[in-house]
Amino acid sequence: MVADVVAPAPAARPQIRIEGAVKSFGGHVVVDVDELVLGDRPIEGLIGPNGAGKTTLMRMIMHSIPLDRGSVTLRPVDGPEVALSKLPADQMARHGVVKSNQVITDFDKLTILDSLLLASTEHRYEQPYRVFSEELVFERYGSEIARYLDYFGFTDARALALSAGEKKLLDIIRCLLVKPSFLMLDEPTAGLPGELTEKVMATIREIAAAGTAVVIVEHDLNVIWSLCDEVHFMAEGKVVLHGDPQSIREHRTVVEKYLGEGHV
Ligand SMILES: Nc1ncnc2c1ncn2[C@@H]1O[C@H](COP(=O)(O)OP(=O)(O)OP(=O)(O)O)[C@@H](O)[C@H]1O
Ligand SMILES: [Mg+2]
Repeated sequence: MVADVVAPAPAARPQIRIEGAVKSFGGHVVVDVDELVLGDRPIEGLIGPNGAGKTTLMRMIMHSIPLDRGSVTLRPVDGPEVALSKLPADQMARHGVVKSNQVITDFDKLTILDSLLLASTEHRYEQPYRVFSEELVFERYGSEIARYLDYFGFTDARALALSAGEKKLLDIIRCLLVKPSFLMLDEPTAGLPGELTEKVMATIREIAAAGTAVVIVEHDLNVIWSLCDEVHFMAEGKVVLHGDPQSIREHRTVVEKYLGEGHV
């Protein structure tokens, strides 16, 4: 008798649905997204020219920028939907929704290790300034932190992060420690040397394979073409196209508004 071959079920992932989301600054509309669903595929890209509204849209999803209009809803793998656009920004991690930043403004005052220990505790207790037992936290998260630091080439965890690249990597590690179910990365490889870009990409592939939904904004399009299962193209505040990397790369609109001729 031939045994039935059962294909493994695709990993269930959370989805984020954005509907009628509008944001203006100084009377100028910078984001105007009718409908967008993120998380259908394991790794999705959001690309577009400078000023298209990519960072603003991600910050609207995180509710670190309030929407003028519209809604952002999380559909978790299990449990009821969550209206992210009504949730305070500091409660996103509790629902597994985490974002790295395009411009890093922290990690200046604490050592590398302390920044990451703090990140490990923050979302669990949601009281960042509560006194916690440093030793206990170190015992629980120290080895995971050490593994990431080693992987990304940090040699002294007691030092301060100095370069923009180091801060970028620490911000990514901070996100990973939270074990997100939905991770948004805003230009995670900008300014990193090739070898570290490869490591970041390998890490993204790994967590996506384990079930995290990843959305990545990046101008290094080699990263987008090689990582993403689906790409959304944004221009002048609107998400105008969706498709697989190859079709987006060749699309007339993308060539005209972003890539320029002769890119392929
Ligand atoms: N806090 C703000 N106040 C005023 N204008 C803003 C603010 N944040 C963003 N903008 C404007 O909104 C528009 C979209 O900016 P955003 O940073 O979202 O673009 P982006 O697609 O992320 O660009 P880039 O690829 O350069 O990072 C730009 O015109 C920008 O100047
Ligand atoms: Mg941006």
